Amino acid sequence: MIETRDIDSTSNWRVSIIGFGLMGSQISQVFALHGFRVIGQDVDPNQLVRGMNIIRNGRYGLESSVAKGRISAQEAEEAISRITTTTSLDEALLESDFVLEAVIERLEIKREIFRRAGEISSKQALLATNTSTLSIAKIAQGLPANTRSRIFGMHFFNPPQIMKLVEIVKTDETDEGILKSASVVATKLGKTSIMVKDIPGFVANRIGILVFSEASSLLEKGIATVQDIDNAMKLGYGYPLGPFELGDLVGLDTRLRNMQALYEETKDERFKPPSLLRTLVSEGYLGDPKLRKGSKGGYYEFFGLKRHSD
Ligand code: NAI
Repeated sequence: MIETRDIDSTSNWRVSIIGFGLMGSQISQVFALHGFRVIGQDVDPNQLVRGMNIIRNGRYGLESSVAKGRISAQEAEEAISRITTTTSLDEALLESDFVLEAVIERLEIKREIFRRAGEISSKQALLATNTSTLSIAKIAQGLPANTRSRIFGMHFFNPPQIMKLVEIVKTDETDEGILKSASVVATKLGKTSIMVKDIPGFVANRIGILVFSEASSLLEKGIATVQDIDNAMKLGYGYPLGPFELGDLVGLDTRLRNMQALYEETKDERFKPPSLLRTLVSEGYLGDPKLRKGSKGGYYEFFGLKRHSD
């Protein structure tokens, strides 16, 4: 069992977030707010600037948290002061205690990052990927054994500042000490973690996507309207959001990509993207226009309906 560094004092931990896009930047905010020192890395310097803007004044950024009274102005300032950024992968990985990879969903890119992380981060470092759809074992394939044993999935949900769940995904090779530390880290971030095996879609997306798929099928057959199906799940099942509201929130292009990946991986017809979803995405309906710049809307706008929240 690998003994990771004592996590009692989060300020002593050096966390490297590789890929500073939508998820990487927002996850950096969560780590920094909970006292970790973060170095964010991206190949694209514009993404570093954009990511820091998301952290400062994005919809769930620090300014908005201060305005809502969730944190004080001083806490926000301290969090910002804990985050540095770089375009150099080596600089980001050097002596890191915790590497969280959140780059684009491409297996070879992720594997290369872990190969380098195994070489130059601390030998006890936790090596986590935030992938939604790729197999963790496949990412680790071909890497040295002492790197593979430290690789696991740490799957955050968007927006990570708000969503309480973290799925910790273990392969057959992930070390128990690493997994134990991963769940301590999740707790330090104020999250609830669940431990899941490395199967396509893990647990939450697998179930969530099936609900969405069945909802789409009922809609396509004309059994009920978008609004009525959403109401069915909210009022009949106590879901906070209906399946279409949630799809619109996640982004319909993201949902389509996730379904395609899950279908390719499992060949299970239940995960095949619904044709209506393809139509919406190809016509520029990418989700809630308040959240997605350039989107014509989501299911509600496509069918000319009013959103419940409007
Ligand atoms: P994004 O496209 O916003 O960000 C990806 C970032 O990776 C970009 O800034 C890009 O410049 C950077 N990048 C590309 N190649 C790189 C390299 N070689 N080294 C360093 N950076 C590189 O994507 P997003 O949405 O943040 O997704 C990132 C990961 O998180 C993916 O694995 C995705 O499956 C996962 N995820 C996404 C969620 C979502 O709702 N968007 C939810 C949960 C997980």
